[in-house]
Amino acid sequence: MIRSVINGVGGYLPEKCVTNHDLEKITDTSHDWIVQRTGISQRYIAAEGQTTSDLAYEAALKALENGGLNASDIDCVIVATTTPDFTFPSTAGLVQAKLGMRVGTIAFDMQAVCSGFVYALSVANSFIISGQAKRVLVIGAEIMTRLLDWQDRTTCVLFGDGAGAVIIEAATGEGSVADRGIISTHLHSDGANSNLLYTTGGPGTTGIAGKISMMGKDVFRHAVHRLAEVVDEVLVANNLEKSDIDWLVPHQANKRIIDATGEKLSLPPERVILTVGQHGNTSAASVPLAMAYGVENNLFQQGDLLLLEAMGAGLTWGAALVRW
Ligand code: ACO
Repeated sequence: MIRSVINGVGGYLPEKCVTNHDLEKITDTSHDWIVQRTGISQRYIAAEGQTTSDLAYEAALKALENGGLNASDIDCVIVATTTPDFTFPSTAGLVQAKLGMRVGTIAFDMQAVCSGFVYALSVANSFIISGQAKRVLVIGAEIMTRLLDWQDRTTCVLFGDGAGAVIIEAATGEGSVADRGIISTHLHSDGANSNLLYTTGGPGTTGIAGKISMMGKDVFRHAVHRLAEVVDEVLVANNLEKSDIDWLVPHQANKRIIDATGEKLSLPPERVILTVGQHGNTSAASVPLAMAYGVENNLFQQGDLLLLEAMGAGLTWGAALVRW
């Protein structure tokens, strides 16, 4: 049977780094509070004039280089983002043009906020399995800081900008959990709780993007609960034990949420990719950036089983099981 295997991973962070101490100067917060509550020490912020498609383009170049591929080798590009350059056209189309990809390539955006990359990876996997595409560039890219109210200390300390890209391509497998590549994906949503995390505007309401508003404690509680649930779902669906998982590659929102999921899997901290301290929460970019961190540091060995997971506004959550 056809499997999607990963061939190319890359990440990009803007140049400007903003530390917690920098934030102390513009809002009523402290480095210690932010580190204790979230694990975040710094985040990167896109330069004026730099757009989400620019970040996505840089990450895509690194993924192509990592996979030894050219833009012309790709027949589908999906950009997971909640901060597109424009309401339309899609950021994916802009990336297609910037990369000089073939005319006729499939290109579209996916919006599931912090779960966006996991959603996009699942859709890309379906394209490969159904034979609609042979090689898909899946990008998570965000400029979340443009949605922040810098006077709202409950949200402005949490987010950062960045992009990560992963290329998946068709390969053959036996259809078992021993295969390389994407073994299973699991997506969920709960629109009834959309009021817990949202922007105060949008093209269909105020006509402007709005700013992030969040009920932090409720989001935290839902995140821990839903991620524990989806981890169980992955294990049961694939008839696996916790001990079969080699790496947790989680969405990077809050170290305490990540620790809870790691503990649920009984994984030692060194088997959990942790970038939130340096990147902040980059929404849809955080899982592919965490993968890029793992690749750059040669952490994943062939045959390792990676559990990717994410939870975000929507509410949305999901997971993917990948054999490296
Ligand atoms: N600096 C200093 N004090 C602050 C700050 C800040 N940046 N923000 C809030 N406080 C204060 C509050 O005003 C409150 O003060 P009070 O007791 O005098 O009223 C106190 O700190 C405690 O605030 P809480 O909101 O109760 O703090 P909590 O421990 O819940 O931590 C946090 C807040 C970090 C936002 C936590 O709830 C959280 O991480 N939630 C998950 C949200 C998240 O990750 N969202 C991202 C998108 S969704 C996702 O990716 C999973």
